[in-house]
Amino acid sequence: MKDNVILTGFMGTGKTSIGKMLSAKLGRPFIDIDKKIEEDTQMSIPKIFEQYGEEHFRKLEREAVKELSDKRGMIIATGGGTVKDIENVRLLKKSGVLICLTATPEEIYRRTARRGERPLLDGGGNERLNTIKKLLAERKDIYSRADYYVDTTSWSPIQIVDDICRYVKHFRN
Ligand code: S3P
Repeated sequence: MKDNVILTGFMGTGKTSIGKMLSAKLGRPFIDIDKKIEEDTQMSIPKIFEQYGEEHFRKLEREAVKELSDKRGMIIATGGGTVKDIENVRLLKKSGVLICLTATPEEIYRRTARRGERPLLDGGGNERLNTIKKLLAERKDIYSRADYYVDTTSWSPIQIVDDICRYVKHFRN
């Protein structure tokens, strides 16, 4: 399997931590799109949202996808909203297999409790769980563009990684 393995899914579904474990297991380089944007711009994601707004962040995200989708043999973690853009989905799927990690709203709420990291969840004050449910509902269709799904709510990271490895082994050569 020479193609990329791309992890997508809502905030807090474990894209980065599972991506790093997959990278170690498969011996492939790992790249996290959010981290790449932060390194390229020398700014944190919350700062980019605050100073330039979400549209600017989405533009940087599209540029990163364009660059990374030219590469092969990588493990790539997208941001939770990367696949909102249909051209991003097209490029990512052309470069490899798109795997969506999922979790229940309550589990996502628990995992994303720390404030200051995810601007889209910080605005609603005590309504954070409702914000998560609303965004999940809005994004239901966009996550359905993936090739494969893994529910991370009750599985251990090792079980999730093993399941993904089993799937990608048979995907393409
Ligand atoms: C976003 C998810 C974040 C980050 C940005 C926007 C989203 O990434 O890209 O805050 O629109 O869902 P994570 O899913 O890695 O938290």
